[in-house]
Amino acid sequence: MPTMTTHDTSARVAPSNAPAPEVPRLHITDLGRDFTTRAGVTHAVSGIDLDIRVGEFVALIGRSGCGKTTLLRMIGGLLSPTTGTIEVDGRSLWRGAQVDPTAVTKLGFVFQESNLFPWFSVLDNIALPMKLRGVGKAERRARAADLAALVGLTGFEKSYPRELSGGMRQRAAIARALSTEPELLLMDEPFGALDALTRERMNLELQRIVLETNSTVVFVTHDIPEAVFLADRVVHMTPRPGRIRQILPAEFEKPRSVDLQTTVEFNEIVRKLRHDIDEEE
Ligand SMILES: Nc1ncnc2c1ncn2[C@@H]1O[C@H](COP(=O)(O)OP(=O)(O)OP(=O)(O)O)[C@@H](O)[C@H]1O
Ligand SMILES: [Mg+2]
Repeated sequence: MPTMTTHDTSARVAPSNAPAPEVPRLHITDLGRDFTTRAGVTHAVSGIDLDIRVGEFVALIGRSGCGKTTLLRMIGGLLSPTTGTIEVDGRSLWRGAQVDPTAVTKLGFVFQESNLFPWFSVLDNIALPMKLRGVGKAERRARAADLAALVGLTGFEKSYPRELSGGMRQRAAIARALSTEPELLLMDEPFGALDALTRERMNLELQRIVLETNSTVVFVTHDIPEAVFLADRVVHMTPRPGRIRQILPAEFEKPRSVDLQTTVEFNEIVRKLRHDIDEEE
């Protein structure tokens, strides 16, 4: 029997200030989704297990058709899973094919196209989700103006989407997604339509906004350097069935500057992902 001194209480009594075990923002187990069409059954997503911490930025990457959008749509409450479970802050998102409305209010979505309403001003677009939730006019206008400032659109509040550049429209869409203070921000190739320079600027902007709001993000992209630049972890998926092949950590200090992209460590991760995706023909 080991002897125990009177000072050594660790084996018997848990310290009262021990942190509670952290509930992940997102807890995904054995998630799958099949589609049945005339051509047969497609296993779009299969056997996905993934936990995402509060404040974590996860990038999803992989060949076209590997199930990235399908996975994001299930997490976003837009598409019901065939198998498995998704918990947001410990609460089940799906009950069969029904989505839990409480869990879904924690989510914000940004798509490849900004999907702004053309007949609403920037401010009204940003404020719309608050209006739908019954936030009073004065409060939602004030918050929408703050959000416009956060994404660098001060001075353009009264503009219409057609009067903005593609990057500005995406920033307005990000502000709109943030307007409900989502616990989880889901982004599906949000910068796919932008030129390289604008895209680089948007990456820096997104990083700043996410750090400022401590948002948890799942971000789909085809751009490997973009994934490694933004993410804490890069999830690499493979097609048919859509599975996770590997998860690579990108443990660089934040905020990151574009200079990171010239470092050996950064390029090693990019090269590995490029190689591994390339060999999947
Ligand atoms: N509504 C649907 N009906 C039938 N099949 C579908 C449907 N949605 C997706 N699929 C199939 O599921 C698979 C995964 O599609 P998904 O859109 O999730 O891929 P992705 O990784 O987002 O691709 P991309 O990079 O091209 O956007 C594909 O084989 C696709 O044909
Ligand atoms: Mg897609």
